[in-house]
Amino acid sequence: METGATPQVAVLDAGGQYCHLIARKVRELGVYAGVFASETPAGNLAACRGVIISGGPASVYDPDSPTVDPAIFRLDLPVLGICYGQQLMARLLGGTVERGEKGEYGLATLNGSRTAALLAGTPPEQQIWMSHRDTVAVLPPGFEAIGNTAVCRFAAIADPSRRLFGLQFHPEVVHTTHGRRILSNFLFDVCGCSRDWDPSHQVPLLEERIRQAAGDRNVFFFVSGGVDSTVAFTLCLRALGPERVRGVYVDTGLMREGETEFVTRLFDSLAPGIVSVERAQRRFLDPLACVCDPEQKRAIIGEGFVRVQESIIERRHLLDGHWILGQGTIYPDTIESGGTQKAAVIKTHHNRVPGIQRLMEANRVVEPLASFYKDEVRELGRGLELPEEFLERHPFPGPGLAIRCLCGSRSRKLEPAGEGFLVPVQSVGVQGDSRTYAPVLALDSFPSQAVQERAAELINRLPRINRVIARVESALPLGSLEVSRGGLSPERLERLRRADALIRRISHESGFDKQVWQFPVILLPLGSEGCPDSVVLRPVHSVDGMTAQSVLVEDTLLRRMADGLLGIEGIAGVFHDLTHKPPGTIEWE
Ligand code: XMP
Repeated sequence: METGATPQVAVLDAGGQYCHLIARKVRELGVYAGVFASETPAGNLAACRGVIISGGPASVYDPDSPTVDPAIFRLDLPVLGICYGQQLMARLLGGTVERGEKGEYGLATLNGSRTAALLAGTPPEQQIWMSHRDTVAVLPPGFEAIGNTAVCRFAAIADPSRRLFGLQFHPEVVHTTHGRRILSNFLFDVCGCSRDWDPSHQVPLLEERIRQAAGDRNVFFFVSGGVDSTVAFTLCLRALGPERVRGVYVDTGLMREGETEFVTRLFDSLAPGIVSVERAQRRFLDPLACVCDPEQKRAIIGEGFVRVQESIIERRHLLDGHWILGQGTIYPDTIESGGTQKAAVIKTHHNRVPGIQRLMEANRVVEPLASFYKDEVRELGRGLELPEEFLERHPFPGPGLAIRCLCGSRSRKLEPAGEGFLVPVQSVGVQGDSRTYAPVLALDSFPSQAVQERAAELINRLPRINRVIARVESALPLGSLEVSRGGLSPERLERLRRADALIRRISHESGFDKQVWQFPVILLPLGSEGCPDSVVLRPVHSVDGMTAQSVLVEDTLLRRMADGLLGIEGIAGVFHDLTHKPPGTIEWE
């Protein structure tokens, strides 16, 4: 299905996470924005009312760094360059950019011009958020500075006659106090956009599109119990009625406690009996039993999904002409962008297995959410009266508990390392665009703000590690714990399931779950004779999973969680992960 309206604003993608955040903020202001590849030919953008060039991690000097079609500056369209976007614009229009000796990261104060249209309605001194190393050194002809900071001469620039603007800071992040107003000035005063976007008003339109796409055919879904596939399913149900919509939920045996029952109840409350459960535990658990390597685990699970889905497609004769496939694919998964969003790639994988690919080629797939962001999908879900407790669920990865249950291939002792111990269990991290896979440093200190700051320092200093955890409580002193051989056995999965359920219950009762974006609970083969495992708590704050901050659990609550966990059979220790992303990923594998 095509994306709905024609975007009034094109956001040119110079680096994944930044461009999506901008597009989301523009949409929040009621203007439909679309993300386009940075080099989209100017001719394709002529119908827009304005263009925004996003920030990105590259330097304009990097040989393969993203660029834009310079003809966009001759379209007589307003253009706003943000961060890297400003530098690129300056360079293409005849200015110069300098590689900074040192970056400027974090909060800064902008001294802005009182008369600049872009800054109208904002105070002359205002808090902004910077994240850059390079900076514009010489302005292109026609440009003037409309704002500076103590270290950046050209924090905001403009050529008002050509309606071209640049910001070195990020108006799209919450830390820029008046960022919303600045974007709104650009959209409404400079570009003359009108308000045309409100996700909750899209329901009737989406239903109509589903009816058109389906014609006289029925719709079939693989549902996961996640927000996207459930909202997409519910839309189809409303559009076509319960006789014409069916779904299957695949129980991989890697789900959380009570998940299958939860999903069954949820769909039964929508329309009884139209979603069935495919119990496929053996197909997943048997080949995973002795696997330690994260990539191998992911490959086995991906492959397992492919086989189960294809067998269902065949068994249910879904390739005959009466059926089309419904999917909960959302906007960031559908567009071609320069970003490297791992979760998106993995989801694409699940939504594009060969059988599904064949259906897509035959125009037999309906994806009603293809133009929506996650928070907009939640908004739609509210309009569809799906229960709030469901819409606010934290994200949960497709491979399930398998990538939270770490395995050990042999017994090993911990190695003393400065103020802690090196745990010979590896976890995945991310630095720049590269994946790291390195051991964890365990500190023998109760988690606190000071310990968290220390952890950040240690990761920067010690090249062998990519993650730091702090001991909350353990049955034996840290140095006496050992890593043991432990696979993905039903016994260990059950232990993790119980630990995860306990933490979910306590965070829900205390309201802590509302303070974090996601709260993975990890099982490590770190313990002692008869008590082989430890649990790591990984609460994080994030906007979209691309970057994340580790969030400290307050002392009393943390002790309550640890006491509960140590009461579970086989658990010898409880740790708190203090690592931000980067350098650690949210999931350990
Ligand atoms: P990482 O671990 O890469 O996770 O920092 C970022 C976000 O993506 C989720 N995640 C996945 N989601 N399939 C999914 O559907 C996957 O294979 C997968 N791996 C990670 C993770 O839970 C976090 O929200």
